[in-house]
Amino acid sequence: MEKKEFLYKILLLGDSSVGKTCFLMRYVDNTFQEIHMSTIGLDYKLKTVQLEDGKMVKIQIWDTAGQDRFRSITKNYYKGAHGIVLIYDVTNKKSFENVSNWINQIREEVSDKVTIVLVGNKIDEEEKRVVTTEQGKKMADDFKLMFFECSAKTGVNIDSTFNELVKKTLENYSKIDGKGAKLKNKKKDREKRNGRSRCVSVSARK
Ligand code: GTP
Repeated sequence: MEKKEFLYKILLLGDSSVGKTCFLMRYVDNTFQEIHMSTIGLDYKLKTVQLEDGKMVKIQIWDTAGQDRFRSITKNYYKGAHGIVLIYDVTNKKSFENVSNWINQIREEVSDKVTIVLVGNKIDEEEKRVVTTEQGKKMADDFKLMFFECSAKTGVNIDSTFNELVKKTLENYSKIDGKGAKLKNKKKDREKRNGRSRCVSVSARK
């Protein structure tokens, strides 16, 4: 019998420079880049996750541009998202204050069943921290979001964030349609042909 596979679309959102690209690179390639190369538009990478119960989940993770000027382009890609990682930088107050704006924008575009995780990134920079863990937790509680503090630089909590997000997403979608977003065979074949990641736009130095 063919093993059941799921495909979920996950978006990384948040202000420019909070570390979205680094977050993705740490998770998929286990690398870190010190230089800020501002994302232009968006691109995605694929990763397969095996859950404790043996279920295989393929996640398509979209890295979006945080700069305002790309907002109308990136908004088009919210459609069909199953999960969102909303990132702020614990050393940048403005990026935290903007979380409520991001939530409002997300709620306009996606359904309530989409799982959202709030992430405070750059916790390796403890001496520069301006957003406390308690403030982050409170914000997450107010908006009923999952919450993690992470560092794309050291890798702390990156896997946990995605694992919990995938588990919750699977739970939500299984409850609703009993099967989740099952990967279609045609799509599987196409992905095999094209390799595991695809770039739909370019990145450029700021
Ligand atoms: P846009 O593409 O403009 O939206 O930015 P982004 O959110 O993708 O930020 P990016 O991943 O390019 O990171 C911005 C800067 O923050 C880079 O200089 C990274 O090296 C740095 N950075 C990212 N994550 C961390 C982290 O966990 N700790 C520290 N100390 N620096 C980080």
